[in-house]
Amino acid sequence: MTMIEIKIELTTNKKDKPTINKLGFGQFYTDHMFILDYIEGKGWHDPRIIPYQSISLDPAAKVFHYSQTVFEGLKAYLTVDKRVRLFRPESNFKRLNISNERLCIPSINEEHALEALKQLITVDGEWIPNEPGTSLYIRPFIIATDPYLGVSSSKSFQFIIIMSPVGSYYKEGIKPVKILVEQHYVRAVVGGTGGAKTGGNYASSLKGQEIASKEGYSQTLWLDGKEKRYVEEVGSMNIFFKINGTVVTPALNGSILPGITRDSMIQLLKSKNIPVEERRISIDEVIEAYHNRTLEEAFGTGTAAVISPIGELKWKNEKVIVNNGEIGEVTQMLYDTLIGIQNGSLEDPFGWTIML
Ligand code: COI
Repeated sequence: MTMIEIKIELTTNKKDKPTINKLGFGQFYTDHMFILDYIEGKGWHDPRIIPYQSISLDPAAKVFHYSQTVFEGLKAYLTVDKRVRLFRPESNFKRLNISNERLCIPSINEEHALEALKQLITVDGEWIPNEPGTSLYIRPFIIATDPYLGVSSSKSFQFIIIMSPVGSYYKEGIKPVKILVEQHYVRAVVGGTGGAKTGGNYASSLKGQEIASKEGYSQTLWLDGKEKRYVEEVGSMNIFFKINGTVVTPALNGSILPGITRDSMIQLLKSKNIPVEERRISIDEVIEAYHNRTLEEAFGTGTAAVISPIGELKWKNEKVIVNNGEIGEVTQMLYDTLIGIQNGSLEDPFGWTIML
C-alpha cells in the first residue's frame, strides 16, 4: 500500500455537539475537514486536515456555472463494543472515480482517499453518535475551481471530505414513506449523467420533489427519461418491489445510480435464498401487481435512507397502498440485518465492514 502524508492542523475552538434528538440529517458538521488540491501538470497534492471552515472560491469557478462536481455518501458507526466501523468505503471511492470519469475530473488514488478518511475520523471520532439509528455521515466531494467561463474541463479541482452526525434521513424514520410517481419531469436519460453521483442529477430532481411535497409525499419516484414507463429510482434511494414472492429492482441501465446499499441488499437476499431479479420493471406492472394483490412489499435503499419501507405510491389518480401501509417482513429482515452488520451486533459474512 502506498502511503499518504497528511498535514494536520487541529482546531483550538471545538464546537458543541448537538443533542441526539436534534440530529436529523446533514445539519451539523464535525470540527475538522480534509482537503486535497489538484492542478493540471502537478496532480493531486497538499493533503491536509484542517479546522472545519468556509472555503473561498473565485465567483467564476466552473463548479458554480457548469456543475463539474461529483460526490459520495458513506457512514461510520460506533459498534456495540464502541469501536468505529466503516461500511464498504472502498466501494464509495471506486464509484467516485467512475463518476469522475463521466464528469472529466481526474481520478483520485482510492487507497489514499480511504487513508485520509480514516485519519479524519480518528481526529473527529468523538462526533460519532452512539444511539440506535444514528451514525456519522461522510460526504467526500470534488469541485472544479478554474475561474474561467468557457465551457471546458477545469484544470484545477479540490477534493474535500466533510462529516455530519446524523439520525434518520426521513422524518418518518423506519415508518413507511409515501412516494409520488412523477409523470411529467424526468431525472436522467440513458447516455446522460444519471449513473454518476453528480450534483446536476439532484438539481434536476428538485422540481419533482417540490411537486411531491405539495401533495404531502416525501419523495418522487422517477420513471425512465424516454418512455416515462419504466421505474428508475427515487433520487435519494434505489427502489425494490416484492411481487409474488420475488424481489425485483430496476436493472442498472446507465441512468440509475449504482447504489452500494442496493448491491448489498441483492447479495443479502441471494444469501437468504429469497428470489431477486434485476430487470426492467414498468409502472404498469407495479400497478397490475397491486390490482391482483401480488404487490407484497416496496422499499428504498440508500446510505442516507438505509432501508426505507414504502407504504404508498401515487400514480396518476391512483393511490397504491402497499402492505396496508406497514413495513413488510422482508423489508424488516433486510433492515435488521444491515443495521446489525453495521453496528457489529451481527456477523459480517460478506466482509463489508472495516474496523478502524
Ligand atoms: C446517500 O444516500 O448518501 C445519498 O447521497 C443520497 C442523498 C442524501 C443525496
